[in-house]
Amino acid sequence: MSELQEIARQVQSCSECRLAQGRTTAVPGEGPDTADLMFIGEGPGYNEDQQGRPFVGAAGQFLEQLLASIGLTREQVFITNMVKCRPPNNRDPYPGEISACSKYLDRQIQLVRPKVIVTLGRHSLSKFLPGETISKVRGKQRRLGSFILYPMYHPAAALHNPSLRRVIEEDFKAVPALLAERQSPQREEPDTKQLSMF
Ligand code: URA
Ligand code: SF4
Repeated sequence: MSELQEIARQVQSCSECRLAQGRTTAVPGEGPDTADLMFIGEGPGYNEDQQGRPFVGAAGQFLEQLLASIGLTREQVFITNMVKCRPPNNRDPYPGEISACSKYLDRQIQLVRPKVIVTLGRHSLSKFLPGETISKVRGKQRRLGSFILYPMYHPAAALHNPSLRRVIEEDFKAVPALLAERQSPQREEPDTKQLSMF
């Protein structure tokens, strides 16, 4: 069993926060261990909780369209979430739940070592840039540790908002160039202690 599979197994039987109580199936995340591109969402919704797979509902369909627009399929990228179990009624995950679950995500990042991490929405943005506002930093790349961080709005936010949809589609167009970027010699040092692990 690969280490990523081992993490998935641990997640499926995890009860380290109260989200374990309401879940149908935990959603560890999925993708190749060699993926250059990683997406980090917020947490499973109804469909994800039913199927045990990330981004399989309406937001996932939009994400797949975005990937197709740059010639990629979901099988080529790693897709995961801040919390691996569905919050009741899709409420925001609490800080304690995010911190209980972060060891799984941290390990996924360390094992996959993506070139580019796209954060979807404000919860995953705040893991890397606490205190930043998504409307200010979306669509702007920055090098953090071993990867390029590229914050975007959450695709679910676009489902009923055509102007946000256009912003996401525009932001997504920059992803191929980020993937093609060579590691710059003067890399910015990670600005929080937690990030030094990547
Ligand atoms: N929204 C998320 O943040 N993650 C999913 O997996 C699905 C919808
Ligand atoms: Fe464990 Fe994360 Fe699920 Fe909480 S959300 S029970 S920490 S896997």
